[in-house]
Amino acid sequence: MLVSSPLSGKWTASLCLLSTLCTLWTPAVSVKEHDFKKCDQSGFCKRNRVFADNAGASSSWESPYNILPESRSFKDGQFQAIVLKTINAKGDTVRLPLTVSFLESGTARVTVDEEKRQNKEIELRYDSKVRKERYNEAEEWVVVGGLGLDKEATVGFEDKSQTTVKYGPSSAFEAVIKLSPFTIDFKRDGESQIKFNDRGLLNVEHWRPKIEQPETEKKEGEGDGGEKKEETTLENKEGSSSSGEDESTWWDESFGGNTDTKPRGPESIALDISFSGFDHVYGIPSHAGPLSLRETRGGEGKYSEPYRLYNADVFEYILDSPMTLYGAIPFMQAHRKGSSVGVFWLNAAETWIDIIKAKDWRNPLSLGGSSKTSTHTHWFSESGLLDVFVFLGPTPQDLTKKYGELTGYTAMPQEFALGYHQCRWNYVSDEDVRDVDRKMDKSNLPYDVIWLDIEYTDEKKYFTWDKHTFPDPIGMGKQLDNHGRKLVTIIDPHIKNAEGYQVVTELKSKEHAVKNKEGSIFEGWCWPGSSHWIDAFSPAAREWWATLFKYDSFKGTMKNTWIWNDMNEPSVFNGPETTMPKDNIHYGGWEHRDVHNLNGMTFHNATHHAVKSREPGELQRPFVLTRSFFSGSQRVGAMWTGDNQAAWDHLHASFPMILSQGISGFPFSGADVGGFFGNPEKDLQTRWYQAGAFYPFFRGHAHIDSRRREPYLAGEPYTSIIAAALRLRYSLLPSWYTAFHQAYVDGTPIIKPMFYTHPGEEAGYDIDDQFFVGNTGLLAKPVTEQDKVTAEIWIPDNEVYYDYFTYKTIPTSKGKRAAIDAPLQKIPLLMQGGHIFARRDRPRRSSSLMKWDDYTLVVTIGRDGGKSAEGDLYVDDGESYDFEKGQYIHRKFVLNGEATTISSTDAESRDPSSVKEGDWMKKMHDVKVDRIVIVGAPASWAKKQATVESEGKSWPASLDYSAAAHGRASFATVKKVGARIGADWKVVVS
Ligand code: NOJ
Repeated sequence: MLVSSPLSGKWTASLCLLSTLCTLWTPAVSVKEHDFKKCDQSGFCKRNRVFADNAGASSSWESPYNILPESRSFKDGQFQAIVLKTINAKGDTVRLPLTVSFLESGTARVTVDEEKRQNKEIELRYDSKVRKERYNEAEEWVVVGGLGLDKEATVGFEDKSQTTVKYGPSSAFEAVIKLSPFTIDFKRDGESQIKFNDRGLLNVEHWRPKIEQPETEKKEGEGDGGEKKEETTLENKEGSSSSGEDESTWWDESFGGNTDTKPRGPESIALDISFSGFDHVYGIPSHAGPLSLRETRGGEGKYSEPYRLYNADVFEYILDSPMTLYGAIPFMQAHRKGSSVGVFWLNAAETWIDIIKAKDWRNPLSLGGSSKTSTHTHWFSESGLLDVFVFLGPTPQDLTKKYGELTGYTAMPQEFALGYHQCRWNYVSDEDVRDVDRKMDKSNLPYDVIWLDIEYTDEKKYFTWDKHTFPDPIGMGKQLDNHGRKLVTIIDPHIKNAEGYQVVTELKSKEHAVKNKEGSIFEGWCWPGSSHWIDAFSPAAREWWATLFKYDSFKGTMKNTWIWNDMNEPSVFNGPETTMPKDNIHYGGWEHRDVHNLNGMTFHNATHHAVKSREPGELQRPFVLTRSFFSGSQRVGAMWTGDNQAAWDHLHASFPMILSQGISGFPFSGADVGGFFGNPEKDLQTRWYQAGAFYPFFRGHAHIDSRRREPYLAGEPYTSIIAAALRLRYSLLPSWYTAFHQAYVDGTPIIKPMFYTHPGEEAGYDIDDQFFVGNTGLLAKPVTEQDKVTAEIWIPDNEVYYDYFTYKTIPTSKGKRAAIDAPLQKIPLLMQGGHIFARRDRPRRSSSLMKWDDYTLVVTIGRDGGKSAEGDLYVDDGESYDFEKGQYIHRKFVLNGEATTISSTDAESRDPSSVKEGDWMKKMHDVKVDRIVIVGAPASWAKKQATVESEGKSWPASLDYSAAAHGRASFATVKKVGARIGADWKVVVS
């Protein structure tokens, strides 16, 4: 059997029959774009684009959707009505129930369904198990809160043509719902922000019966765009004129040799969403392109394809492209000076988004007289409900917070997960793992986790070990544990279809697998050859999945073993677009088409819960990495950006992608350090480690065909430079952990783009290669270009900036680009004045060995000369859920009084007696603030002394002062501070 796979193009029949050899493929040079659909090869995408073009071309275009006036009602924060869609010239209509919910958070939700009554007429072509209503369970997977209705929302005005609802904080938000045609204008303080159906592109492809024609009347179609078959529609059967639509892909559609049968016929939903006066939109990851999204309807510097969200295993993806990748978050934010707004399109089916920007016409005599740009977006999904949340900001922080209220915030990870992860495909034996572990130590390279890719298994049978190469996994795990290190093993969703393999036997007999359109177990190809896929939508399947991870079931694993979920888009080598046929059937009778983009998350979620339940009592927070994801995946683990290449442009592309993840609610993200495919030259590898030290998820990974490249193999000076980057990451772990805590509390991204931190600075809106780290004021721009030895960092404000390593004051001002020296050994990293952040400076082998180390605080004096600087530190045991019971330390540090006092108080003003200290908190009594470094300390400090006051005592601490010299700022160091990190204290300089 010849298996054609976009993953290689070099598979051969014989190799794939011997499934163990299936991995012996040679990578093709770049992604085969033709293996993935373009819009005009996807029936509903093409239809909706044509719909938009027709609407745009006609000055008399009228949207055929109108609210039935007498159907309107408003109660308890909810507006309901029937939207009538006129479907033919005769005036026949279909009824679409509309609900606009106004939520307590100030978010609005618009849902359009299709009335079931009409469906009695619908004859399904198949007597299949496919559900007949529109998919309406995405909410169950995605939304975890924030749905409380705003009972204060009121109808402000109503007449024959519209209903206006006032809602949100101080009733400053308004939804103007027009009846004919149906449109909604969302306003804040009377000003229009977001408009629905303003361009009349709302399109709900209503269900209709398929009218079979006599064979002779059918015409043969051609090509990949779908077999063309002329069908008689409900409309023309009834004698009305044909809709004029392209019906060729209504009932089936072919691509790349696969035919998608469509038992329910055409059922896409589409809507135009305009952002009034906004010329920047962000979000909708994952795409390998700029953070600020491009226009998509052609022209210079623009894409000609819409952004696509259809989770796929895209081999060696191309850069600067709207092509789909492994995960999907249909959350878009629009930003301009003074306003940030957003929409969340809750739909798990294949989705495309067109973006155009246009100057709004404005009367030159009116205020300002100038024209402004608006961004017009057009969303279309193949099936399901139209379900959109609307956020009216006004700040970027409001958006990430409100989106997280609905979909959940980042899970608080174990601290080790923030350390460095050493991976490759593959470490070939347990001895290999032990050897790497020893060599990392020998070269003083800190790391926390070593990873095992698919080759550790017995012939790709997950939950087993290759007994020849991994005879002693427990011995290996114990060696790692000696230094607090962990092991991550890969477990994929495809289960090898092999005789005598208990996992597949159970999967089949217990009916936990995804089914094909005939209702039998779906069979496809992946790493093991012939495989079946667990259907993680099924609660029973998830329960069963959990049993497989028990220590006595997955033998060879221990408490320090964690999991990597890959290929969960799902990747099916011989499937359409390398994934599952859309007419496959999942738990509950839903077609794969309806749930495709959720699939990866359900598997990730199942694994997360499985690992969490390995032992009673939920002792440790699980770590599970996923490749595929959807909105909500942030609640269960980390993601990485998939199969990149060892090339400078891929290094460069990693930051826009990770920043996009951050503002889209899933900040625990990283790219393969070094590049997955190929062999990075030493400079590139070194620069990539310096960049990776700023990825929230920091993992080196390499393809099976690449040369070994553990950092100790790089040789000097590279190994030492990489070691320095790793140590920088480790010393700043307290601040990274604090940033993760912030993400866990309110969805703040861990690394933040300029538009997010400085929303009023228009020059920063397009910048996506520099960022702030948490609340530290650290502004980084890792070098991502070959032979670059300076970095031009854009300075977003008039604060003082210091070079992190040299304490040099950066001679610059707001809006300028500061040239920072960046020879290979140096990362361009600035400290913004006015902050206090924490480090742990003692070099150790892993994060858990740093657990009881003392802290260094760094204070950066701002332009006010030290009147104020602030920062915080969050610490807990880094492992368990005890933090949920108050077992944590959260300090607020403040410098004030003309730089005379640095103090630490509880950041949440908690009463210390309110928390009964557990073991970890008690042990933390021995952990102190060791040093405080004050960069930019006033000259008067040269003659001053420091006194520490804490817990009713006071004692002197030594204060060293160095005057400014040769461009370097003055700085002072208070040594041996000796105050408990968890206690209130004050350092007084006098
Ligand atoms: C594809 C993943 O993207 C890659 O990271 C992994 O090494 C291979 N699958 C093999 O498991």
